[in-house]
Amino acid sequence: MKTPHIESEDYEIAPLVLMPGDPLRAKYIAENFLDDYRLVNDVRNMYFYTGYYKGVKVTIASSGMGIPSMGIYAYELINYYNVKKIIRIGTCGSFNENIKLQDVILSTGSYSYTYFPKLLDNTDINYIESNKSLNDKITKTSKDLNIDLKIGKTITSDVFDLYCDDMATFRSNFTDKSCLGLEMEAFALFFLAKKFNVEATALMTVVDSLFDKREISSDEREKGLNEMIVLALESLLNE
Ligand code: HPA
Repeated sequence: MKTPHIESEDYEIAPLVLMPGDPLRAKYIAENFLDDYRLVNDVRNMYFYTGYYKGVKVTIASSGMGIPSMGIYAYELINYYNVKKIIRIGTCGSFNENIKLQDVILSTGSYSYTYFPKLLDNTDINYIESNKSLNDKITKTSKDLNIDLKIGKTITSDVFDLYCDDMATFRSNFTDKSCLGLEMEAFALFFLAKKFNVEATALMTVVDSLFDKREISSDEREKGLNEMIVLALESLLNE
């Protein structure tokens, strides 16, 4: 079984998938958290690894950046490889003064002005929820692991906000000020999961903030990411 973008055989992709944006993060997760892992896709260097976490088969599939890239990989994983559960594990900017650098956010739903749903299946929506039962599992696991999780809505933007000419105007487009974070992929994942009746949600570590200009060290960054990775992996076990 091959798609235009994934060369794995059917049996090489697990029904449980974690999706970081960065292919090298997929490699990092496989090398540091999985047993008996193998590289199962490298088309366009979009690395997918499949291995075992505490005996459970898991695939780590990179999504690339932005809605179109996530849209392609999530579509193909769900429709050609029968994937049933996807947790995006990404990074985001803070959209709220109360959300600090290094916080880990669980997205309960995403707002977007993207044209993706309209073009894909003529649907006009700008908000889509993530999967409630997966979110409940992650929330319970975060308590078991003593990880402070910020739970709420997020925004998926088609532009990298830090490159906007006028940040105030950019932000004024998003009227729900309770949103916690802002990234560029979750909406596509949630939309496809709902359309094809599988479970998906997103965890995000905060790496940029308008409210806090501190640089975080690579050690701190790694620690924050590791916490999110363990939370996602442990939540998949929690069946
Ligand atoms: N904005 C959008 N996407 C992001 C950001 C950000 O600040 N940080 C990581 N992904």
